[in-house]
Amino acid sequence: MKINDIKTVTVLGAGHMGLGIAQVIAMAGYQVNLRDLNMEILEKTLNRIRYILTRFAEKGKISSDMIDSTMERIKLFTDLKDSLKDTQYVIETIPEQLELKQKVFREVEKLVPGNVIISTNTSALPITDIQKGAERPDKIVGTHFFNPPQRIKLVEVVYGAKTSDETVNLTLELMKRIDRDPVVCRKDVPGFLANRTVTMMLNFVSWLVSAGEFTPAEIDCAFHYKLGQPMGTFGLSDFLGLKTTYSVQKFIAQREPEFKIPPVWEELVKAGHNGVDTGKGFYEYPDKVWRQPESWNEEIADRYDPNWSLLVGMNRMAQIVNDEVATVEEVDKAVKIGYLMPVGLLELADQIGIDKVVEGLEQLKKRFGKIDNLNYILEPNPLLRKKIKKGELGHKTKIGFYKH
Ligand SMILES: NC(=O)c1ccc[n+]([C@@H]2O[C@H](COP(=O)([O-])OP(=O)(O)OC[C@H]3O[C@@H](n4cnc5c(N)ncnc54)[C@H](O)[C@@H]3O)[C@@H](O)[C@H]2O)c1
Repeated sequence: MKINDIKTVTVLGAGHMGLGIAQVIAMAGYQVNLRDLNMEILEKTLNRIRYILTRFAEKGKISSDMIDSTMERIKLFTDLKDSLKDTQYVIETIPEQLELKQKVFREVEKLVPGNVIISTNTSALPITDIQKGAERPDKIVGTHFFNPPQRIKLVEVVYGAKTSDETVNLTLELMKRIDRDPVVCRKDVPGFLANRTVTMMLNFVSWLVSAGEFTPAEIDCAFHYKLGQPMGTFGLSDFLGLKTTYSVQKFIAQREPEFKIPPVWEELVKAGHNGVDTGKGFYEYPDKVWRQPESWNEEIADRYDPNWSLLVGMNRMAQIVNDEVATVEEVDKAVKIGYLMPVGLLELADQIGIDKVVEGLEQLKKRFGKIDNLNYILEPNPLLRKKIKKGELGHKTKIGFYKH
């Protein structure tokens, strides 16, 4: 299969993510066969796509002619076989359940020609597990889109143990054609690149809260008043829904034994609190809408230093690079595009100096290393030490993670 052979893409699942994925593919000029279990879901999704396109046209992001032409390219299906007829690429974005995904992959494989790639939008399941029992595991790959796909252009293209280079290369080309900014995740590690980094940063501050070192408000105020983050870390978790973030932590914890979920998360989730939509999470929301917590004020913003979280992120990214999961450029790009960070954390490490990064981590380890698994999180990755030994400290030595 060559990129120009791809004319029709089948999207399985018309839920939250399927909607955005179908929309961006159709906007790029491809035919989309969108499949879900019933017409009610599909029609609701289609109406929503029209609504979003209309808003785009009102804001001048697209011409108004594009609304109808995009809509015309999306066809709705409830029958799997019909949805796969004459398709050249399949993207699965059904619920996050391994057995369900495996079953659907086995069915799809039987219904498409041998050269058709089937990708999964899983956030946390191993691609390698989805490949198990497949007839053509080399044709199975991860395409991890970010939410909402219409706005966040990052797609992590993820190798499972048996994915071929040809499959990844064609997928990268397709992602570029649909106006995405893809990065390659070379190994099937939990959390891939962006979530793997950011979840570690969240884990760190959550352990500090669990241990009673800081309150969520103290940490959030540091991010809000010093770095301009509107919701802070815990406020954002409440807004997104605790269950979603908890499940990513859980999947990482299952595959990385040193990564433990802090008690504060276990307590909130087990008590049925999901954040804004249940009225309680790290903060209370009596009318179930997000608003800045009353406990926030500038005076408490000095208690926590947000740079500590950045050091934890840099350390995790050094691990990703050291484990040959991604290149320096790819992992920086993943957090910049996926989490709208103004600068890549490894770019920042070069600015600060890699020796200073290690010093900072050592100091944090001294202060907080006794708290459960913070010793693991704060232990400087061997790559950082190797760079110091080689004199590659960043800007000041003209070479660090990057050449300067
Ligand atoms: N929501 C996010 O922020 C996000 C971000 C990145 C990745 N993901 C991943 O994307 C996938 C989908 O997540 P979502 O949030 O869109 O879920 P969702 O529940 O909103 O949508 C899933 C849809 O799949 C449909 N479905 C179930 N079985 C099906 C089948 N056999 N064939 C076709 N459709 C079927 C459901 O009816 C539903 O409409 C999951 O793997 C999730 O982990 C989600």
